[in-house]
Amino acid sequence: MKLIPPIEERLSIQKFSPKPIEPEKLTAVLEAGRRAPSAKNRQPWRFIVVDDEDIRKRVETAAFGQEHVGQAPAIVAACTTNIDYLMPNGQPAYPIDITLAVSFMMIQAQAEGIGSCIITTYDEREVKEILTVPFSMRVVMLLLLGYPAELPFPTTRKPFEQVVSFNHW
Ligand SMILES: Cc1cc2nc3c(=O)[nH]c(=O)nc-3n(C[C@H](O)[C@H](O)[C@H](O)COP(=O)(O)O)c2cc1C
Repeated sequence: MKLIPPIEERLSIQKFSPKPIEPEKLTAVLEAGRRAPSAKNRQPWRFIVVDDEDIRKRVETAAFGQEHVGQAPAIVAACTTNIDYLMPNGQPAYPIDITLAVSFMMIQAQAEGIGSCIITTYDEREVKEILTVPFSMRVVMLLLLGYPAELPFPTTRKPFEQVVSFNHW
């Protein structure tokens, strides 16, 4: 089976090169996020790009010292602008909306030859303070972007038959 290369080849990068990301590539990644679908097309997101080295290092500290956080030349803090909207199924929309936007960004990044890694291991209160995120908003996740310094070993997945079924659970 052949998937599209950005899905086939993507890995969570743990070591980034200091080589900066070309501005047009970074813009394309952010644009991919902007075009993601969202519940009722509410687009409840704000993407804060952290490319300043001092601020990246502070975010690394808030991410419990994970070195690849400060190493990545760009960190996108994927924030929500609305945490209240519940979908008709009773679930909050914002984690899904933000996750879709970040997924689009990851795939576009990979297609541009740029590595990425989602980060959720951080002290949100600290990250909000560093990035001046309003008190009532959430930093749903961080997306590290940059050229890989080395590729990690590919991870495994549960077998297809274990995770897919037709017509019944
Ligand atoms: C919701 C979520 C949270 C994650 N948090 C972190 C994190 O804090 N630090 C990190 O290095 N990787 C993090 N990852 C990356 C996962 O460890 C990685 O996606 C998983 O091991 C599968 O590997 P792969 O992405 O290379 O296929 C996170 C991924 C997801 C989807």
